[in-house]
Amino acid sequence: MKIPPTIIVIFGASGDLTARKLAPAIFNLSQDGLLPSKCFLIGYGRKEINDGQFRNYLKKSLELHSRRKIHGDAWNIIAENVQFHAGSYDNSENFNGLGDKIKIIEKKLGEPAQCLFYISTPPGVFKPILENLGISGLAKRHSPKEIESKVIIEKPFGRDLCSANDLNKIINHRFEETQVFRIDHYLGKETVQSLLVQRFANSIFEPVWNRNYVSSVQITVSENLGVGSRGGYYERSGALRDMIQNHVMQLLALTAMEPPSSLNPESIRDEKVKALQAIKPLVLKGKNPEIVRGVYTQGLVEDEIALGYLQEEGIPDTSFTETYAALCLQIENWRWKGVPFYLRSGKRLAAKASEIVVQFKRPPEILFGLDERFSLSPNLLVIRIQPNEGITLYLNSKTPGLETKLQPIELAFGYETTFGSNTPEAYERLILDSLNGDGTLFIRGDEAETSWELVSPVLDYWQENGKKGLENYSSGTWGPLAADKLLLSRGHEWLTGKQ
Ligand code: BG6
Repeated sequence: MKIPPTIIVIFGASGDLTARKLAPAIFNLSQDGLLPSKCFLIGYGRKEINDGQFRNYLKKSLELHSRRKIHGDAWNIIAENVQFHAGSYDNSENFNGLGDKIKIIEKKLGEPAQCLFYISTPPGVFKPILENLGISGLAKRHSPKEIESKVIIEKPFGRDLCSANDLNKIINHRFEETQVFRIDHYLGKETVQSLLVQRFANSIFEPVWNRNYVSSVQITVSENLGVGSRGGYYERSGALRDMIQNHVMQLLALTAMEPPSSLNPESIRDEKVKALQAIKPLVLKGKNPEIVRGVYTQGLVEDEIALGYLQEEGIPDTSFTETYAALCLQIENWRWKGVPFYLRSGKRLAAKASEIVVQFKRPPEILFGLDERFSLSPNLLVIRIQPNEGITLYLNSKTPGLETKLQPIELAFGYETTFGSNTPEAYERLILDSLNGDGTLFIRGDEAETSWELVSPVLDYWQENGKKGLENYSSGTWGPLAADKLLLSRGHEWLTGKQ
């Protein structure tokens, strides 16, 4: 699709995300010739820096973080179209000043340009930015033409159901839903996009993708790093808000949804919302609760002692923020009734791994299963989102020899072996899609709220209980024992990290 002349405005331009992800993504898109030739970047931030300082900051960020190195004249060509606008987020006058800069660019161009506003600030200022984009008229520039303004909103989209609701109200008041792109960078990952293709472009999965054949689905998004310098943010967030409510729930929605009627963004998002709406509220207390939370303590990670969460910078002793959460969800629909969906995510775990494991039911014990010499492993389909991106199907096979012995074997596909490395980063795809007005890989307002509906009562319950029920786990392990029991009591075990 041909993209009209574009002005990208990044709010939070001197922040970490701009340096690590946004600037490299924009740079790589331009190197691939995917941005319009008339493309401008305005950094908006509270720091009093000038255009030259901002350009230097971006250049350094690219040198450090871009997947492609800057060669020859590439940077100078880009630098000409970069400027900085210092302003606060709650002062509408500063937004008028931004509007003036946009008009000057358009005047030079001699034609109207679309604006893409990227809100990459701390969540506390999402509201004033959205309001001021509305008040200053920037939200409705050129509306409703094809060059209408667009806005990308970073995560976290709210702190709970109520605040997500508030944000959606402002958005509905100031923008059309087609202008709004709520980002979840997991949806931009190559392997996550591929999930829909694997499910719906192959005929072998769909017939067995249900309660008749599947015994459980496990989704693990684990990290081996701790919170590092992000303690201030993380302490107010925790694993449930930071990872489960968004990234993990998105993986769940894509795994559990019905086939959409078309590739139209709304058809896909409708099906995701339906899957999320079918999830039963979690059982929080009693004999068999469906959720476990934990916090990492000091432990050994790659032969070095790693601090416990309470010893990390900026974390108060009174903290009861969870750095790990595991849950067992029930999806109450015809396809999935009775199949547990186990989700977990945590920091300082044994390895970085994002994986979906579909565990199939064992075959009926008619031949091999009757004989105790044979141990029949369940078939597993392991979809590795990262690292070692790929898919492995575990089957039972006979080992060579005169005796009949069984052993699980792997049918494996790896992205790197088949397609090579250097695939575009998630943010590249997502920025490009938003410029094209394609919301398929973004979260719709009702989708975000449906996910918060599940998570909010848990957050309230944990808030009431403080440290009570918060389990410890040593850094470098796979999480608290209680999370293993969560599965054992339901006849399963965590498979990621075991295969
Ligand atoms: C972010 C979380 O959304 O995702 C971080 O805020 C987390 O806490 C990060 O580390 C993980 O992303 P990725 O792409 O490295 O898996």
